[in-house]
Amino acid sequence: MKRVITYGTFDLLHYGHINLLRRAKSLGDYLIVALSTDEFNWKDKHKKTYFSYEERKQLLESIRYVDLVIPEKCWEQKRHDIHEYHIDTFAMGSDWAGKFDFLKEEGVNVVYFPRTPEISSTKIKSDLNKEKSIQNKTKISHDDLNTDPLNNL
Ligand code: CTP
Repeated sequence: MKRVITYGTFDLLHYGHINLLRRAKSLGDYLIVALSTDEFNWKDKHKKTYFSYEERKQLLESIRYVDLVIPEKCWEQKRHDIHEYHIDTFAMGSDWAGKFDFLKEEGVNVVYFPRTPEISSTKIKSDLNKEKSIQNKTKISHDDLNTDPLNNL
């Protein structure tokens, strides 16, 4: 059985994540996702997630390509995980291209998939914030209209 591992935060699970997970699974029979814990995200990756670790884990476990979710607690655990879980292939998106080539020393294939364009957790958050500020502006102008005495005629 060929085992594949990938790492990430996977907040606000989106179709870019699904593409990555599908491609990673296609490289083997068993896909492990090492999911960044809230503490690791905050302290080392400087990311505050919308969904908690447990929520992100549940979402990933519901995806047909994912066989096991384990916690990613630090940058250094990759070498250890490769041996503990008998990994054949390490897969990541192309934003990490070249960064994990050193893992080949542990006897694994290292694969980088092209990122799906124009989608990320950061983009979703920023688009929703823009939408909220537009709604707030619209609400203010409606309120202004409603206090206009001419409106009550
Ligand atoms: N990924 C991808 N295509 C995207 C977004 C993410 O292939 N459009 C991949 C990343 O390359 C990584 C995995 O999905 O291998 C998890 O990425 P993560 O950083 O959790 O997702 P992002 O949406 O990029 O999150 P953020 O905006 O917080 O960086």
